[in-house]
Amino acid sequence: MKILVTGGLGFIGSHTIVELLENDFEVVVVDNLYNSKIEVLDKIKEITGKEVKFYKEDVCDKSALEKIFKENKIDGVIHFAGYKAVGESCKKPLMYYHNNLMSTINLLEVMKDNNVKRFIFSSSATIYGERETPKYVEEMGRGKTTNPYGTTKAMIEQILEDLYSSDNEWAISILRYFNPIGAHSSGLIGESPNGIPNNLMPYILKVASGGLDVLNVFGNDYPTPDGTGVRDYIHVVDLAKGHISALNKITKSGPGIYTYNLGSGKGVSVLELVKTFEKVNNIKVNYRITDRRPGDIAENYADPSKALKELGWKTEKTVEDMCRDSWNFMKNNM
Ligand code: WQD
Repeated sequence: MKILVTGGLGFIGSHTIVELLENDFEVVVVDNLYNSKIEVLDKIKEITGKEVKFYKEDVCDKSALEKIFKENKIDGVIHFAGYKAVGESCKKPLMYYHNNLMSTINLLEVMKDNNVKRFIFSSSATIYGERETPKYVEEMGRGKTTNPYGTTKAMIEQILEDLYSSDNEWAISILRYFNPIGAHSSGLIGESPNGIPNNLMPYILKVASGGLDVLNVFGNDYPTPDGTGVRDYIHVVDLAKGHISALNKITKSGPGIYTYNLGSGKGVSVLELVKTFEKVNNIKVNYRITDRRPGDIAENYADPSKALKELGWKTEKTVEDMCRDSWNFMKNNM
């Protein structure tokens, strides 16, 4: 089977391509390199020994997509391409709505025109919004999102539900990621955000490597065991494997729309992650407690039981693995 991966040279996309190749899928990648590097192609080849066909195009460019589908017999699509910085989305909402929505609508239209109806969408736990309970389960449905980035994810989930209602030939899987961190054990691919990081682990790595002086811990007065924010961290390789399980499911079960939480089911606090990182890597991470970050919630983590029951998927890697692999990648790429 030949799978088109949009945004495939990014953090999660590249790890998913490695798993696709190792499961004998053929892969075509489209990426505009806005938040990724062309060198990742060589790293994927070094890890798997396999080539992928690469198009440096923007998924907002419909004619480029038409060309890709004309030149390749695509059997399914995994769609990662999209802007994903929460803070930036608040400053530039139109850029986020235009890019994330138009790219997806273009892609679905070209898929429909070519009668390609297997689609896996990269969604996010952020669509749940703030809930009375920290444990999120799929049946809760979408909540009130707190930023334009999260709203684009929620809107696209709605578009997919409406698309399936209009045409039951579609086989769609919506994957709601919790907090992906870690890197491939080779240290060849990982998360290398351009500029100042937004998320916790890239910030820890910058401080540990001397790129930044101190980690600001955004509040220690939350109603959590140590007062700092609790999240469900998932190793990016576990997350990538979840995409293979979802792809196999829609291939086997055929048309339908299936939504899954991809998380460990375990909440870890900011300070727990910092302490684990220090212990596993025998390195000090300077931090200071500062005010809460606006928009942050105290705690959330996945109920991952539906993915286990229906996909036979669950996380296997530990927080220690995530901390070790993240640091290993950073050391290899400093
Ligand atoms: C985690 C915890 C912070 C940075 C976001 C998106 C979500 C998903 C993952 C895409 C929180 C604390 C952070 C720092 C800190 N992305 N923190 N100091 O906010 O849970 O989720 O990224 O899908 O959609 O919303 O992740 O890593 O930013 O924060 O104390 O310098 O670390 O307060 O408790 P978040 P995060």
